[in-house]
Amino acid sequence: MSIKEIKTYKIVTFGCQMNARDSEKLAGILEDKGFSEVADEDTADIVIFNTCTVRENANQKLYGHIGQLKKSYLENKNKIIGICGCMMQEKDEVEKIVEKYPQVKLIFGTHNIDEFGDLIDEVIYTNKKVIKVYDEAENIEKTLPTKRVFDFKCGINIMFGCNNFCTYCIVPYVRGRERSRDVDSIVSEIKKVVAEGVIEIMLLGQNVNSYSGKAGDSYKFNDNNKVTFPELLNEVAKIDGLKRIRFMTSHPKDLSDELIEVIKKNSNICRHIHLPVQSGSDEILKAMNRHYDRSAYLKVIDKIRNNIEDVGITTDIIVGFPGETEKDFEDTLSLINQVSYDAVFTFEYSKRTGTKAAEMENQVPENVVKERFKRLLKVVEDNSGRNVEKYVGRTMDVLVEGEDKVSGKLTGRLSNNYLVHFNGDKELIGRIIDVKLTKSCKFYFEGEIVSKWK
Ligand code: 5AD
Ligand code: SF4
Repeated sequence: MSIKEIKTYKIVTFGCQMNARDSEKLAGILEDKGFSEVADEDTADIVIFNTCTVRENANQKLYGHIGQLKKSYLENKNKIIGICGCMMQEKDEVEKIVEKYPQVKLIFGTHNIDEFGDLIDEVIYTNKKVIKVYDEAENIEKTLPTKRVFDFKCGINIMFGCNNFCTYCIVPYVRGRERSRDVDSIVSEIKKVVAEGVIEIMLLGQNVNSYSGKAGDSYKFNDNNKVTFPELLNEVAKIDGLKRIRFMTSHPKDLSDELIEVIKKNSNICRHIHLPVQSGSDEILKAMNRHYDRSAYLKVIDKIRNNIEDVGITTDIIVGFPGETEKDFEDTLSLINQVSYDAVFTFEYSKRTGTKAAEMENQVPENVVKERFKRLLKVVEDNSGRNVEKYVGRTMDVLVEGEDKVSGKLTGRLSNNYLVHFNGDKELIGRIIDVKLTKSCKFYFEGEIVSKWK
């Protein structure tokens, strides 16, 4: 195989915003080498799967895709299939892939994305299988070239890894311990993307409110000790030209009054907090090792709602955690009714090897999980749209993000993360405009453009 025969690539991303951002780095590295992106896995010379392993169905998705590529691999033996991301931090999965899928030529993990350029060269020039996965991160990742999916928005990593060890979660095992970037490197990366035209960023971390970085060598901060997440956010909010700041994900146990104050005081910080509760039962929250109970969580919700006008609050729920009784489950349903979320993401508990919950004896039978999941969806559905009426008739800032494939209308987002559909010119994509919300459709609004210039 020679470099001349390799021209195109396709990156397939599974999972969360962190993976989406990592994929932009992988694309940046490949573009720097002169390869160009194509839409289709079958025709691409290089296909990289950036995997997720947070739930079993994420793993299944990967195997489905690799299976489907078999034919195009047999037709083009120069094709390079690579796999990276969280799933590759699991030894059993790597062994399985090596044994069953000889067409996979490159495997690397979450801690060595910065080596991707060298690893892909090695595959191209030696035509040998290259497998390089580290158990732990050696140091904080270098700044890498990126190719952004959107011109006007992107994610910015502020910390990597997680120390919380929620008992169901595999993330601490595959992403390692918490490492926070220095403020100066975060701020200079944001200034660079803003200079390139980005107006919205999302600060990314498994648990952003436990950010604890240093100011950094060149950054003028009041002192040079550890910087907290609210302090970082406050600094980021000062960046000229940055119109919107989002962040994900917040852990309820670390959501401080300072954070609420900083959001309140800076209008460019979006009025949206994703605050995964996971369960409404104190017993289950304890068994999950979440470090809060129902009443502490509800207090945080009240504080947010009382202090931040028009805030959107969203959450994640797991149903069927080991030991979950009917009563525990009903506590979750009642919490959903009580909080009246703006969106709820629901998951059936998935047993992840290596986690504490996987060892628990009282696993809930699959049929019970499925039955509860259905009831959960019904409650979520019944609750959706409860908060939206108050917005109808108002004119609000909307970042135009794209076109809706079905209706051909433009789609945009309010600061609180609700979607709005409206008629308008594609030229507006990437701009913040005034839109009057004319109708609520539960998950989204219909609207009319009021002013194209802000
Ligand atoms: N099973 C089901 N859902 C899970 N999540 C994380 N681990 C698991 C698991 N083992 C969910 C949590 C988390 C979201 C990203 O994924 O709700 O907030
Ligand atoms: Fe997983 Fe809990 Fe860490 Fe979130 S906070 S990544 S759920 S261990």
